[in-house]
Amino acid sequence: MKQRYWLNAGVLAVSLLTTAGVALSDGDKSLLSWFTNTNPGIDPKTTQLYTRECGGCHFPYQPGLLPATSWEQIMGHLDDHFGENAELTESNRDAIRNFLLNNAAGRANYGLPNKLMAAQGERPLPLRITELRYFVYEHSDLRRDLVQDNPEVRSFSNCDSCHQSAKQGLYDEHDVRIPGFGRWED
Ligand code: HEC
Ligand code: HEC
Repeated sequence: MKQRYWLNAGVLAVSLLTTAGVALSDGDKSLLSWFTNTNPGIDPKTTQLYTRECGGCHFPYQPGLLPATSWEQIMGHLDDHFGENAELTESNRDAIRNFLLNNAAGRANYGLPNKLMAAQGERPLPLRITELRYFVYEHSDLRRDLVQDNPEVRSFSNCDSCHQSAKQGLYDEHDVRIPGFGRWED
């Protein structure tokens, strides 16, 4: 059993490092650094737990997309989570909470999370990524018929409906394809 676990961990580490290589060459826009395990706080097993427990109802948002204060509030009220009950066992909740807080925007010094925090300035911190000032600004050109009235998107919260590489933490505007409308040309 033990041997098998280490084997899986090795395979996972290699695949994470490979993906990370792609990200680094892609400049500072990537959120991938939370995947690369350079931060001693990140355990690949926790990222699997996170994807399983927080990726069932929606895209598993990378921790660097929100500041720690917002994650803390979300994890403190999972019984009333945007109108849903998303409660977890205590041990899973604690593991995920630590993972989110350790890798939150403002805690690591790289690209997108830094931009999110800088754009927010002294303004109050929302619970939603989609209410961050940077987010609202970047998506202000998108008409309702492309998002809310688009049955294949419905909500800005569904990042991966439009951002082809959202799961890899890449949100480059040149990598956007809006379902039913096609590639985004700025
Ligand atoms: C039972 C389903 C469910 C589970 C499980 C769940 N969520 Fe959610 N979550 C929702 C719904 C519904 C919304 C609102 C989506 C919308 O407005 O389109 C949401 C929204 C969010 C948002 C705000 C997205 C935005 O609009 O910026 C965050 C952040 C979030 N969830 C984090 C989490 C985390 C962390 C977990 C795991 C602890 C989790 N969710 C588990 C249902 C769920
Ligand atoms: C309806 C499709 C759609 C959804 C859903 C969506 N986006 Fe976007 N996003 C876009 C488009 C289009 C742009 C480019 C806008 C422009 O340049 O005018 C963009 C731009 C961005 C940028 C700036 C990229 C850059 O190169 O500067 C970020 C970051 C981003 N989105 C993150 C997210 C996140 C995180 C989510 C989910 C919480 C999300 N987006 C949901 C369509 C979408």
